[in-house]
Amino acid sequence: MIEYLIELIKKALDEVHAAHDLPGVEEIRVRYLSKKGEVSLMMGKLRDLPQEERPAFGQKVNEAKEQIEHALYVKKQALEEAELLKTLEQEKIDVTLPGYQFYQGSIHPLNQVIEDVEDLFVGLGYEVAEGPEVENDHYNFEMMNLAKDHPARAMQDSFYIDENTLLRTHTSPVQARTMLLKKGEPLRIICPGKVYRRDDDDPTHSHQFMQIEGLVIDQNISFANLKDALLKMIRHLFGEDRVIRLRPSYFPFTEPSVEVDVSYVKKDGSLGYIEVLGAGRVHPNVLKMGGYDPLKFQGFAFGIGVERIAILKYNIDDIRHFYTNDIRFLSQFKGVNR
Ligand code: DAH
Repeated sequence: MIEYLIELIKKALDEVHAAHDLPGVEEIRVRYLSKKGEVSLMMGKLRDLPQEERPAFGQKVNEAKEQIEHALYVKKQALEEAELLKTLEQEKIDVTLPGYQFYQGSIHPLNQVIEDVEDLFVGLGYEVAEGPEVENDHYNFEMMNLAKDHPARAMQDSFYIDENTLLRTHTSPVQARTMLLKKGEPLRIICPGKVYRRDDDDPTHSHQFMQIEGLVIDQNISFANLKDALLKMIRHLFGEDRVIRLRPSYFPFTEPSVEVDVSYVKKDGSLGYIEVLGAGRVHPNVLKMGGYDPLKFQGFAFGIGVERIAILKYNIDDIRHFYTNDIRFLSQFKGVNR
C-alpha cells in the first residue's frame, strides 16, 4: 500500500511538473485531491488495514496530500507569473493611439450671439448691464413712456404676477434702471436677457425669447452715431459686405424711431432686405424720467431679437429648436464663432 502511495505521489508530482497551463493544473488537482480524487480514495483504504498500521498510513496520506498541494501551488504561481509577463510583453502601450474622447458641451447658439455682440460693444467702450426678468410695470412700461392707457401696451401682453408685477416684455426697462443708477452721467450700455410675451408658440413665435438692448446717452449725440453703431453691429454679425436700410417706424420710447433691415443676396442675385431690429433717438420723456435734461443730453437706443439673429445667421427653421435641448441640434454649434 505504501509503495502504491509513493508511486502515486511521484506520478502526481511528475504531472504537475509537466503541466503547462492553469486549466491543466486545475485538472490535476481535481483528479488527485478532490473528494473522489485518488488521494482521498487512499484515505478510504485505511479501513482495509490492520488497526495498528492505520495512524502511520493516515499520516502518510496526509503528507502526500500536502506535498501535492504544495507542488500545485508552486506550479500555479509560476504559471500565473509567466502569463503576466507574457501579457506585459505583448501589451506594449501605443502612445500614438488617440486618447479617450471626452464629450464636451458647447455654448448655446443664443449665448454665442450674445457673446459676439458683447465682444463688439465692450470693445467700443460699452458696459454690459442686466436687470430682473420679473419686472415692475413702472420700469417695463411707465418709464419707457408707455402710460397705463397707452395703446402700444396691447402689443406687449405678458404674464402678470400681480397687477404691477410682470415678466418683462422687453429689455428696455434696463435702460430706465441704468439711467437712474448713473444719476445724469453719460452712459453706453448693452443689456442682453430673456423677455416674455403672451403668445402662442409656433415656428416663428415663442412666449419666451431673448433681446439685446443698447443705450447711449451723452452730449452731441446725433442720428449718425446711431447709424454707425447699427452698421458696425450688423457687419460684425453678418459680414462686411452687408448694408442696412432704415425705415421710419414708431416706438413710444424713441423719437424719431426706425426699423432696421439688413441686406442679403437673393437666389436670383438681386438685393433683398430683412427686418432685424428697432431703434431710434431716445424720447425726451424717457430722458426726463431717467434724470437727464433733454435739452443738454441726447441719446440713441436699439433693441434686437437674439433668436432672429441666430435664425438668420445659422439658417434655422424653427425657433423652438432653441429651447427643446435636443443635443443633435445644439452640438452643431460647437466652436462656431471661436
Ligand atoms: N423694446 C422694443 C421691443 O421689444 C424693441 C426696441 C425698439 C428697443 C426700439 C429699443 C428701441 O431700445 O429704440 O419691441
